[in-house]
Amino acid sequence: MLFKTNVDLTALNTMAISSIAAKYCEVESLEQLKSAVISAQQQNLSIFILGGGSNVILPVIIEGLVIQIAIKGRKITKVNDHVADFQIGAGENWHELVLFSLSKGYRGLENLSLIPGTVGAAPIQNIGAYGVEVKDSLITVNVLDLESLEEISLHNKDLNLGYRSSLFKEKPGKYIVTSVTLRLDKETDLKTNYGDLTNRLQGNAFNECDVSNAVIEARNSKLPDYKVIPNAGSFFKNPIVSAEKLNTLTTQFPNIIHYPAANSKFKLAAGWLIQEAGWKGYSNKEVGVHKNQALVLINHNNGSGADILSLAKEIQKSVNDKFCVELEIESVFI
Ligand code: EPU
Repeated sequence: MLFKTNVDLTALNTMAISSIAAKYCEVESLEQLKSAVISAQQQNLSIFILGGGSNVILPVIIEGLVIQIAIKGRKITKVNDHVADFQIGAGENWHELVLFSLSKGYRGLENLSLIPGTVGAAPIQNIGAYGVEVKDSLITVNVLDLESLEEISLHNKDLNLGYRSSLFKEKPGKYIVTSVTLRLDKETDLKTNYGDLTNRLQGNAFNECDVSNAVIEARNSKLPDYKVIPNAGSFFKNPIVSAEKLNTLTTQFPNIIHYPAANSKFKLAAGWLIQEAGWKGYSNKEVGVHKNQALVLINHNNGSGADILSLAKEIQKSVNDKFCVELEIESVFI
């Protein structure tokens, strides 16, 4: 397979970081993907997979081969009158899939409207918003196993899907996602418990399309459009702390925003912690912190991956100094 050389990836990552791929190819099928991987292995090139580029921080140069996954396809298999399995190519756009499923009358993805990126990236970080995660509807993920070079199917229960975590994050470089199968149901209950959503829908009868529209409104009200202000969504995870730690924190900071999490632990709103540490709306020459949502770092003037990392470290340090809480970076640094 022929690779392009020295390809500029600025337009292919939502942080708009200027980065050059020493070698690059786009693959539209499993066969093309296999042949790209075999060529890379023969030339001893390391492989980096690019989807929608919405959760990655790129270096100035990527030595090795960047493979852009452009495997398309939507197949719907009816399970019964109101349930269907959607098998979707990894290179399809996530939000277009959400709109497609709604146009067919299926529920399950409405809370995940407007999340940037591709379908193949969804299980990698178990995308989640407004009380729903992709894990809730995901049945299987088809992957190319980079050792055997065979396509295999991994079941939801084998994927260790947790809060922004998965087997794919634990074992990077082992698999490449080729398609994802989601089970959607026309009759399942809508999930509208998340405060922001409840407020927007209050008092009205609503269906799955109304929920999707409310999510779109909520996101547009606080998250910057990456085409206008380059960003990678939430830059840090919301930290999980013990009940004891939360107790100590609430004594000192009675307004601290927290929610119950699994295993009797609590999730803190990282955006609030960063805001209280004084960073909301901060900006240096190249990069900064969004004025409406402190969890989002922005690249307003040709910042590099190193500029972003150095700001992230300063924020981590000041949040730790003030609250004794570690912020973990959610975006993936290459
Ligand atoms: N908050 C502040 N100041 C801020 C930001 C937030 O006080 O600068 C407060 C809000 O007022 C709210 C709470 O913190 O009371 C939580 O904020 P928000 O509802 O905006 O959600 P989040 O916890 O900051 C998470 C996800 C988002 C997802 C939203 C909605 C993570 C890391 N992020 O953000 O996901 O859209 O919930 O469910 O879990 C993403 O992953 O890229 C992403 C955008």
